[in-house]
Amino acid sequence: MTNILEVRDIHTYIGQFYILQGVTVSVPANSITVLLGRNGAGKTTTLKSILGLTAPRGGEVQFDGQKIGGKRPFDIARLGIGYVPEHRAIFKSLSVRENLEIAERSKGDLDKRIEMIFDLFPDLKRLYQLPGGQLSGGQQQMLAIARALVPDNRLLLIDEPSEGLAPVIIEHLMNVIRKLTDHTTVLLVEQNFIVARNLATRYVIIEEGRSVHSGEMSALVQDQALIQRYLGAA
Ligand SMILES: Nc1ncnc2c1ncn2[C@@H]1O[C@H](COP(=O)(O)OP(=O)(O)O)[C@@H](O)[C@H]1O
Ligand SMILES: [Mg+2]
Repeated sequence: MTNILEVRDIHTYIGQFYILQGVTVSVPANSITVLLGRNGAGKTTTLKSILGLTAPRGGEVQFDGQKIGGKRPFDIARLGIGYVPEHRAIFKSLSVRENLEIAERSKGDLDKRIEMIFDLFPDLKRLYQLPGGQLSGGQQQMLAIARALVPDNRLLLIDEPSEGLAPVIIEHLMNVIRKLTDHTTVLLVEQNFIVARNLATRYVIIEEGRSVHSGEMSALVQDQALIQRYLGAA
């Protein structure tokens, strides 16, 4: 199995705070890997470290066989990594169409991928001319993910997509995220364990800035003790 992303023992500071103290994550291509862990464990910082937004001081990040540590966020993104941050960062005053247009990395990106995006998110076709701010929470999350699909990204980093959404919307969102692996690879952060175990084939548990466990999701779901200890979820 080829891993499209290898994060090896990274150490990240934010200001003088030593936040990541050894995080290792392997992400196989065309699958979903989830980062688990309690609030404040370092999941978001791991995504930001991969992107160079909080550049690691130690360790190594390899994307598609290439070392990307030390590159600037813009250059890392251009290699084909899309970021869907927490709290669905869309432009509320721009239309759905404009939100997608400004996500282009090269001219013509949107034209090339609009059919695929409408296939995945039929709602966005119907809402194309509406301001992002008039969309429901679920629709805004779909738009946030769709934006990351406009460039031909080979890896998407998606932070807590289900946060604050109603169960029926989460169900719909899960179906969409599952389909993303036809087109790309996903590294997901998810606090909702039901969502995580339904989507991911592999998991990494982060605890106090360290990756403490990783493996196949099918093994984790059998291990109630581990789930209780690190996630406090059933
Ligand atoms: N800008 C910051 N300044 C200081 N500490 C921060 C900052 N951002 C995050 N942290 C700290 O880093 C730790 C990890 O945060 P984060 O990666 O956001 O956790 P998670 O996403 O797992 O909830 C937390 O203890 C948090 O308080
Ligand atoms: Mg977070």
